[in-house]
Amino acid sequence: MPTTTPAQILQDATLLQRFQALDRFLIEHQALWRPRPFVHYPALPWETEHPKLAAWLRAQSLEHAEAAHNQPHLLQAPAPFPQLAAQAHELSQLGELPQSPAQTLPPRFSSDVPGRKWQQIDAFARSLSFFQKPQHWLDWCAGKGHLGRMLAHGGGKLTCLEYNPQLVSSGQQLSHKLGIAAQHIEQDVLADDAVMQLQAQHTPVALHACGELHTRLLQLASQAGCQKLAVAPCCYNRISTASYQPLSASAQASMLQLSIDDLGLPLSETVTAGARVRRQRDQSMARRLAFDLLQRQLRGVDEYLPTPSLPPAWLDKPFADYCQDLAALKQLPTPGAQNWQQLEQQGWQRLAEVRNLELLRGLFRRPLELWLLLDRALFLQEQGYTVRLGTFCTTKQSPRNLLLLAERQHQLPTDAVDNSVDRF
Ligand SMILES: C[S@@+](CC[C@H](N)C(=O)[O-])C[C@H]1O[C@@H](n2cnc3c(N)ncnc32)[C@H](O)[C@@H]1O
Repeated sequence: MPTTTPAQILQDATLLQRFQALDRFLIEHQALWRPRPFVHYPALPWETEHPKLAAWLRAQSLEHAEAAHNQPHLLQAPAPFPQLAAQAHELSQLGELPQSPAQTLPPRFSSDVPGRKWQQIDAFARSLSFFQKPQHWLDWCAGKGHLGRMLAHGGGKLTCLEYNPQLVSSGQQLSHKLGIAAQHIEQDVLADDAVMQLQAQHTPVALHACGELHTRLLQLASQAGCQKLAVAPCCYNRISTASYQPLSASAQASMLQLSIDDLGLPLSETVTAGARVRRQRDQSMARRLAFDLLQRQLRGVDEYLPTPSLPPAWLDKPFADYCQDLAALKQLPTPGAQNWQQLEQQGWQRLAEVRNLELLRGLFRRPLELWLLLDRALFLQEQGYTVRLGTFCTTKQSPRNLLLLAERQHQLPTDAVDNSVDRF
């Protein structure tokens, strides 16, 4: 795929430039990425405008969708797919943040941490580079505080905030065992009193704090006068408002209004799951799609009806029982005689079509995620921070691999950024 923009770390003016380019792209093509194939039947609104593309995608197999899922931009599909793919790919280019050499930590530090999580923590810690050495790390939504301990091993005090008491207590024990002087505090970071936990000398770090958990940090840390912070967000859709509340003036001025469903798009990339898990996921979705056809008939309403997530044991039920029980759960009329085999087959056919149609939405996953990150970056810029945005690990290590580094440096000239930066 040709690209004219080399992957670069976004900072200074490029933050706003990229935000504006993404904003235009997402607004112009919202009719293509907003509607979710899963809920639209028999066709998506854009299909009349692009019948060749729709027919081509609908004719592909489930295996095809699976193979193309992680790299939809490489697909040779009819127009406008390749053109959109090239644009989306170019707008999503982002450089890797420079990493300091690996720290040699005693093996005990990682003994309690799953392999992939440890790789993320290691990559996050090595990507932190600040002008001034952090004195006091604040691990925000810390879990057991593995990240904070790794950072504090290199120097500085450590406070970990976490609201799950078991994780707080395990974290405290681990810190004690590993000789790290850390304070693990049970704190709901969304509660009013969370503001008391932030002080100007803190350097907050947040690895994969969901939606509001990390946006709250950005607000509280900038108010508290923290000079540096580092955030790798995830789960943008975990918010308590009905729609997205932009943080920066630029995003507030944008025409782009995002629903909770829209915010789920960047998270819809599935990382390599095992064959059994994939099969289970497919079966569950095929059944839901089949049930959707049935419920339209039972209700006499040609509209999607959301259904709750069901225990995995439901997949062991014969398909007819599954439908009857789900109809009862949704208080729908009891289904009469049906050709269950045919209905189940229709569910699988719909699944293949839905998955392939989703490849078009998939082109917009990364652009939307980057738009959201840039909203955070621009907000921090407005609060007087110098911000850098880049990747900190591979997508295989985590699809949520974007990291925001922010530092207030009133006393330093901005052109010193690249030459004099130290890593901590
Ligand atoms: C995805 S985990 C990330 C944990 C850790 N940063 C890591 O990367 O291993 C999110 C953490 O946030 C915690 N959490 C969720 N809601 C919270 C809240 N309102 N206040 C404090 N912590 C919260 C969860 O218990 C969980 O440990």
